[in-house]
Amino acid sequence: MLSISSSHFEKYTMYFKKLSMNVLVSVQSFYYTLVLYLSAFVTLMTPGTVIWKIFGNRKGKVHLMSRDLICDSETLTKLPKCSKPLDQFTNALCPFLPTFLLDSDNSWKQRRNVFSFGNDIIIERIGQISADFRLTSKPGNILWDVFEMISRYSFQLVFNRPPTNEEFNRIYPGLLDINRIIKRFTSTPDVKIRQNFYDEVLKLIQDNDKDFLFHSCETFFQMEEIHQVSSVAEDFLTTITVQCTDLVCHMLLVYSEHADDFQNQFDNALNETLRLYPLTDLWMRQPYGGQRGWITSLVQLNRNGWAQPDAFSCERWNLPKHPPLMSWGFDIRRCPAQKLATNVSKLVFQAIVNQEGFWIEPAANFQHERTFPYGCQAWIGYGEKPKNARQWKFENKLRMQLRRWLCEKLRMIDQNELN
Ligand code: HEM
Repeated sequence: MLSISSSHFEKYTMYFKKLSMNVLVSVQSFYYTLVLYLSAFVTLMTPGTVIWKIFGNRKGKVHLMSRDLICDSETLTKLPKCSKPLDQFTNALCPFLPTFLLDSDNSWKQRRNVFSFGNDIIIERIGQISADFRLTSKPGNILWDVFEMISRYSFQLVFNRPPTNEEFNRIYPGLLDINRIIKRFTSTPDVKIRQNFYDEVLKLIQDNDKDFLFHSCETFFQMEEIHQVSSVAEDFLTTITVQCTDLVCHMLLVYSEHADDFQNQFDNALNETLRLYPLTDLWMRQPYGGQRGWITSLVQLNRNGWAQPDAFSCERWNLPKHPPLMSWGFDIRRCPAQKLATNVSKLVFQAIVNQEGFWIEPAANFQHERTFPYGCQAWIGYGEKPKNARQWKFENKLRMQLRRWLCEKLRMIDQNELN
């Protein structure tokens, strides 16, 4: 009799323990989710930076209400492998690669093969093609100057010749429109401009010049028209232009303070730039393999576990043991164009800074951030630096900050960030 009631007692104790654990986990998830959403909503920081500020060097997972937050690269790389290619929940490349490798679309394997084909040829072409990478002397926003130079170069990489004025005038506004949406300088696409971009690329594909990237690629011509255009226009022209512009601008800003590091240990300086300014903010995966869905912040992954994580220090890459650089991705979705992107960005960056007498001075009221809410405000010059170069400030900062705040929130909503 006594033994039965004691086993009942143990059973009830276990039950209550489990119940109170569940209640505790639910309360904690609710609390963390609330803190994260509220902070991401009210501050000017991107959600990825907010995550780093709130959870810092914490290890493992934080249980949020609808998914887990993965806090460090070790936990991330130990997760069961996800074999799904890019899907609509991958926000890194949206909205400018809307059709690339979507898992709902059967053509993703063809697209991937075509991408590898083009990738290999472009890697060979980089360096064989000469281009002018001299920035104009001026104080102001240099983001669009770099963007325009790289957009011409990306055309050359794909077609092995510079664009004619007519071609460029029909393609460039489309590229600009896409990047302005990505950067949230505007919120709706200009359909007419996009249509011109599409039509011009289609015309070039149909010309099928012997130097066209996919001239001898049968798989490319087996794809439907929309995929052919998207491969050229989005996967190559747009991605090279948008991603490499951001990387080059980040390097130029860092170079203004650490020129010697870029001269003496370029690879470390590039890694360190990408560690502090990864081009992606968040990664998300839907539930798979019995796992809860998860979210992770690249800003946190790249700083968690490093000494003085917010400081720029090339020497840290010489240490025998250190956390990995996560900026190129980590699983099946790891960037397939790392070599291409590194080589293009390195070539453009070095050609800019190696111009005789080049100097750069960021505006006195400019903060270097991962995104470019105010553009890339810097004074570019050659030869002797004017005495007032350090005092120059750009205008309309408050207006830009407000626009950025609004656009970041729209971005959180329309890209399902944090949901
Ligand atoms: C310039 C620096 C670049 C960085 C830092 C970068 C980084 C990344 C990252 C982090 C991912 C993974 C996204 C995720 O897991 O959600 C990714 C994927 C991808 N990147 Fe890049 N990228 C860069 C440039 C480029 C360029 C120039 C191209 C094209 C020529 C490119 C093509 C792609 C593609 C196609 C994927 C999707 C891969 C897949 O899911 O199979 N990237 N990139």
